[in-house]
Amino acid sequence: MNGPSVKTALPGPKAAAIIERDARVVSTSYTRDYPLVMARGEGSLVEDVDGNVFLDCTAGIAVASTGHSHPDVVKAITEQAGRFLHMSGTDFYYEQQVRLGEELSAIAPMPGPHRSFFGNSGTEANEAAIKLARYYTKRSGIIAFFGAFHGRTMGSLSLTASKLTQRRGFGPLVPGVYHAPYANCYRCPVGNRPETCAAECLRFIEEQLLMHLVAPEDVAAIVVEPIQGEGGYIVPPEVFLQRLREIATQHGMLLVVDEVQSGMGRTGKMFAIEHTGVQPDVVTMAKGIASGLPLGVATAKSEIISWPPGTHASTFGGNPVSCAASLATIKLLRDGLMKNAETVGAHLLAGATALMEKHRIIGDVRGRGLMIGLELVRDRQTKERATRERDAVVRRCFERGLLVLGAGQNAIRLSPPLVLTKQQADTALEILDQSLTGV
Ligand SMILES: Cc1ncc(COP(=O)(O)O)c(C=O)c1O
Repeated sequence: MNGPSVKTALPGPKAAAIIERDARVVSTSYTRDYPLVMARGEGSLVEDVDGNVFLDCTAGIAVASTGHSHPDVVKAITEQAGRFLHMSGTDFYYEQQVRLGEELSAIAPMPGPHRSFFGNSGTEANEAAIKLARYYTKRSGIIAFFGAFHGRTMGSLSLTASKLTQRRGFGPLVPGVYHAPYANCYRCPVGNRPETCAAECLRFIEEQLLMHLVAPEDVAAIVVEPIQGEGGYIVPPEVFLQRLREIATQHGMLLVVDEVQSGMGRTGKMFAIEHTGVQPDVVTMAKGIASGLPLGVATAKSEIISWPPGTHASTFGGNPVSCAASLATIKLLRDGLMKNAETVGAHLLAGATALMEKHRIIGDVRGRGLMIGLELVRDRQTKERATRERDAVVRRCFERGLLVLGAGQNAIRLSPPLVLTKQQADTALEILDQSLTGV
């Protein structure tokens, strides 16, 4: 497949027909930013049903980590599918799940031994972590962060504090969740300078939250994204996560890191938390873990994940085909893709930062590896959010053959497959440059 190349008006005739049928039968709750109807994918390229080819800097929301339909992953899936599709790892045994548990233990960002709980999605991984933290500590409180996204089922939604539309109309949510400011130093939520932002956010937890709202001994866990994903690809200072670790340890709380979006090699290390030296108690994963097959995992130290049979399980969780895809994925990440994320990511980040000179609308560029955000503002001084303009740039990129998504209210996220080449990164930058011009 070669591209990008856009040959028809968008959507093309076949895409338009499918979108019309979709509107009749598919839930209206999905957010489609532009009319892409995919027919086929290969590496970092996506072909739509009308034969247009796009460069994919979304990876289906950071999922197609090894690129679309990587031959090694397809082979692993096909071989496993030919043997058996399902036998419910909750009631029976199969080696694929054991092998994946061993592999996850080998890559986990904290010392072992570990055990893993298998579900089908990010939200399920986080539900497991929340339940595990409560069960293990016999405490109910959870500290989460403004801007966080942990999923949309009732437990994880209670921690999610991203867009209001995700929570509006669904209350009451699970009690016992307390939100604290996340160290977003570009626009410090407690109104302070970038240099003091992390310290002030932490001070809020220690001097407000834990002194006025909830006793430390009632808190089961602090749940945090090491880089906020849906919140806008926000990289906090390392000290923020390091101090959260200390607070958790000091008070007997668990530190749960949600690596659903930032994990699986995307940042150039297997887990984003590894950039900070912090060792969590529980790590949750999904998205890129199986290159597109449904899998969500909560991996914890064995002494923590020792709940008795029947306490938590999922019929489909850790499905053998997903496990096979995940094993092939992890091998590819270790054998070079993680390194590629680091080098091509640094190239893309430098290129995106260089665009700031030409486009005053870019207020901030940040990220690690191939997890990069560009925040658009109407004025660099006031940092007024350029939300409409961001949406326009996303749309213009699509029309020029580049798939990107928004994150937060006014950021563009670049989360391509980890097979992206330097040349493709340059193409993405060119299209971004053109799409930003005149907005
Ligand atoms: C950090 C994070 N956690 C959890 C989730 C929820 O994952 P899922 O949509 O698979 O339930 C997401 C999804 O975007 C995420 O980015």
